[in-house]
Amino acid sequence: MELDISSLHPTKLYHHLIRTIVPRPIAWVSTVSSAGVLNLAPFSFFCGVGSRPPTLLFCPANRRDGTPKDSLANTLTRQEFVVNMVPYSLTQQMQLTASELPPEDSEFELAHLETAASVVVSVPRVRLSPVSFECRLLQHLPLGDGPGGANIVIGRIVHMHIDDAVLNSDGFADPELLDLVGRLGGTLYCRIRDRFDLGERP
Ligand SMILES: Cc1cc2nc3c(=O)[nH]c(=O)nc-3n(C[C@H](O)[C@H](O)[C@H](O)COP(=O)(O)O)c2cc1C
Repeated sequence: MELDISSLHPTKLYHHLIRTIVPRPIAWVSTVSSAGVLNLAPFSFFCGVGSRPPTLLFCPANRRDGTPKDSLANTLTRQEFVVNMVPYSLTQQMQLTASELPPEDSEFELAHLETAASVVVSVPRVRLSPVSFECRLLQHLPLGDGPGGANIVIGRIVHMHIDDAVLNSDGFADPELLDLVGRLGGTLYCRIRDRFDLGERP
C-alpha cells in the first residue's frame, strides 16, 4: 500500500502513524495550572533528545475544538513539567488520566495517585513512578493551527529521579525491574519481556 499523504485525512493518517511507530514509550506528564490544580496526562509521541543539553520532548496535539490541552497550557504558563515513566503496575491509572477533565479537576484525584515533591521544579511527580524527569520548558514549537494541530514541547531536564529499587549492580536502571509499558495502536500496549542481546558490533 502506498499512502498519498497530501490527500489522506489527518485522522486516518494519525491511525496509520500510531499503528506503525511502535512501540512508543509513554511520558506521563504532570503539570500545575495557574490556579494551582495538579494535572496529569499520558503522551506517547515522546522521546529523549540528548544529554548536552539534557533534553526530552513530548507532543500534545490541540483538542478537537482547536484549543491547547491542559498539559500544554500549564507548561506554557508555569514553564515547568515532570515526565513520569509508566510501569505495568500503574497502567490502569495511566489510562484513567487520559480522561478530558475540566481544568479545575485533577487527574491525580480521579486515579487516586499520590504525589511526591520534586527536587528542583515546583511541579510534583507521581510517587510510584520509578523514573521521573523534572523539566523546564526550553522550547515550544507549534507546527499546526486549529483542531489536531501538532505541538512539540522540548524540556531541559534539570533533575532526574530513579527509584533505588529498580537499579542493578552497575548503578543503572534494570529493564526487568522497571517493567515499563509501551503503547501500540488503539488500546493495545506492550511490556518489555522479550529481550535479546546483539553483542558487540562486528
Ligand atoms: C497511552 C496514551 C498516549 C497518548 N499520547 C498522546 C500524544 O502523544 N499526544 C496527544 O496529544 N494526546 C495523547 N493522548 C491523549 C491525551 O492523554 C488526552 O488528550 C488527555 O486528556 C490530555 O490531557 P490534558 O488536557 O490534561 O493535557 C494519549 C493517551 C493515551 C492513553
